[in-house]
Amino acid sequence: MSIQHNDQTHVFSLTTAHTLYQMKADANGVLLHLYYGRKTDGEMSYLIRMTDRGFSGNPYEMRGSRGYSLDTLPQEYSGSGVGDFRLPSVQTVSENGSRSVDLRFVDFAIRKGRPALRGLPFAREAEDTETLTVTLRDSVIGLDVQLNYRVFPGEDVIVRSARIINTGKQPLRLEKAASACVDFLYGDFDVLHFHGRHCMERVPERLRLPRGIASFGSRRGMSSHHSNPFVILCDRHATENAGDCYGCMLMYSGNHLEEMEVDQAGSTRLVSGIHPDGFSWTLAPGEAFQTPEVLLSYSADGLNGLSRHYHDMIRRRVIAPRWQEDRRPVLINSWEAAYFDFDAEKILRFGRAAKDMGIEMLVLDDGWFGKRNDDNSGLGDWVVNESKLGCSMKELSDRIHEMGLQFGLWFEPEMVSEDSDLYRAHPDWALADPDRKAMLARNQWVLDMSRQDVVDYLFDAMCAVLDHAKIEYVKWDFNRSVANCYSHALPADRQGEVAHRFMLGTYQLLERLLARYPDLIIEGCSGGGGRFDAGMLYYCPQIWCSDDTDAIERLEIQRGTSYGYPVSAMGSHVSASPNHQTGRAVPLDTRGIVAQSGTFGYELNPGKLSDAEKEEIKKQIADYRRFAALIAHGDYYRLTELNDGRDAEAWMFAARDGSEALVNLVLTHVRANGPFPFVKLQGLIPDAAYRLEGTDRTYTGAALMYGGFSFPLKSGDYAAYQLHFTRI
Ligand code: GLA
Repeated sequence: MSIQHNDQTHVFSLTTAHTLYQMKADANGVLLHLYYGRKTDGEMSYLIRMTDRGFSGNPYEMRGSRGYSLDTLPQEYSGSGVGDFRLPSVQTVSENGSRSVDLRFVDFAIRKGRPALRGLPFAREAEDTETLTVTLRDSVIGLDVQLNYRVFPGEDVIVRSARIINTGKQPLRLEKAASACVDFLYGDFDVLHFHGRHCMERVPERLRLPRGIASFGSRRGMSSHHSNPFVILCDRHATENAGDCYGCMLMYSGNHLEEMEVDQAGSTRLVSGIHPDGFSWTLAPGEAFQTPEVLLSYSADGLNGLSRHYHDMIRRRVIAPRWQEDRRPVLINSWEAAYFDFDAEKILRFGRAAKDMGIEMLVLDDGWFGKRNDDNSGLGDWVVNESKLGCSMKELSDRIHEMGLQFGLWFEPEMVSEDSDLYRAHPDWALADPDRKAMLARNQWVLDMSRQDVVDYLFDAMCAVLDHAKIEYVKWDFNRSVANCYSHALPADRQGEVAHRFMLGTYQLLERLLARYPDLIIEGCSGGGGRFDAGMLYYCPQIWCSDDTDAIERLEIQRGTSYGYPVSAMGSHVSASPNHQTGRAVPLDTRGIVAQSGTFGYELNPGKLSDAEKEEIKKQIADYRRFAALIAHGDYYRLTELNDGRDAEAWMFAARDGSEALVNLVLTHVRANGPFPFVKLQGLIPDAAYRLEGTDRTYTGAALMYGGFSFPLKSGDYAAYQLHFTRI
């Protein structure tokens, strides 16, 4: 039983393998947060102290107890306007204009399995998943909030969401609906958040939480390159391998906000959910709003420990079961090889060369449909351009399959070009304010995915292509931020719903396509990694990590991504040198080692490779096949601390049973007469002996973990090392 309720004290205890989450409905019906952290025994309510803090008032019924204030008590889901002056979790506007929400405990239920989350991605339940639903009520405005807590003991994750129901007789307008609120009574936290830009996603930045409010989020209609919906609160002294770390990951791909407030007494409130800016949702009597889920986790074993919880959670409970065990194909993508300049013969030449090197799938990127010879036209017209290809898609696909390769295609479903038949036929299908020209980006507009007719059109158009030719893979792109988020299908007072309805439309389309093509791999993409989140990972087992394919830049991008997401989800390819984005030259073996820590593939013109390079690629692919299971399913460790000023980046994979390990190190700066690169390994069995592949040297796990390993010096830019240890 991972969820327990004490009838006497009204304490709820949620336990995972290593953690305890505790809360209590007090005598006033306020649902108090007691504790989240390393497993303890017994009740943690002794941690709550009360004192009369000036300017923190008391609920009317507690007027005799001046120490009892909603402003200072730790709460599970904060209301608004009734005396808690910290961040609200929910904000409503009643018919009479009142904006107050005062939530009190009504009842609870404990069930096996999951509550239905209609239209949204969710964590897939395990055998032992239990759900606690606690209902809070504001009987004045007629509002119920059902807080759902789903406990995943094996992954050390607690999944929260809220269902907000209008139980009154008048319509209610919802202006904020967070997925979760966690109040940490004590702690001195740093926050790690993941900012970025196109071509440099998920850059970790570690900051001391200031007094007041710090917030990160996206209003771009997508989870964004600029701010990932994942934050970590960690002890100020936490390192990669030690210290308290809390993660908060929103399972959502649209606008989001992560807020942290350190209050007058040093307590920290964390609130995560859909971004309230621009959001408003009308709830008629009886209607409900379901928030996305948020994945919470705690580790005492530092940032690496926390990352491993998320890796397990995503690999087992987010990625579709179809792709949890199977190795994804090694692919070659046509984008950096040809951009828009190709015909079928050229693509077939790529295919033949790729097949010779051991590549398993060919992906035809942008440019195969409509009038699309550059990025100014054609989006929305998902009709094969046979005159450009010189044949039908079926003929091309058949010939690729005859070579023994699988075949994939690029789509950008949610977009439309002004210069397209779709836009000419349905100008009202694009998001745009009335009487205003919408913002263009990459010369394209955004389709109104909140409309069912748009979703239906896209489903039919994509099925027509996927039914006509054999296609095993789709790259699903999304190449601009959403502005002018106005739907011509909704009335004026419901425009605040468009951004979220947009995401529901996208999720519905993904859901329907996967129901029809259960073996299709959909790789998410958004100008690289602009929509890399747990919501998309529910549908897409892999997401293109960045349009920056420079291996040295990728070290940073993939490291930043690894804090929350497993390498098995990171789309990563070997591209040409000098690199197309940076002009940097990087040795082929280094490019291979970096791309190997991902889904692995190639993004270059094989016709331009020398014979020696082709031979090296054959070996890379053979090595990848050997290590693929360890990389995809092993425990991942960052071996270098963040921004430690060293000239190397190192990381490793250790089999959970301690049987083998793969260690990678890339020199980011070569120095004359420099120190030997050095790391301490992780995840080995201390008293087991390991042989280093290619040598007859053996080491104990203890020696490699406590004494470490030093590498010989190498000269030349960006040298890499890869070591494989096997237990003997
Ligand atoms: C985006 C993707 C690229 C490529 C282009 C095609 O930028 O991230 O990989 O598919 O679109 O236009």
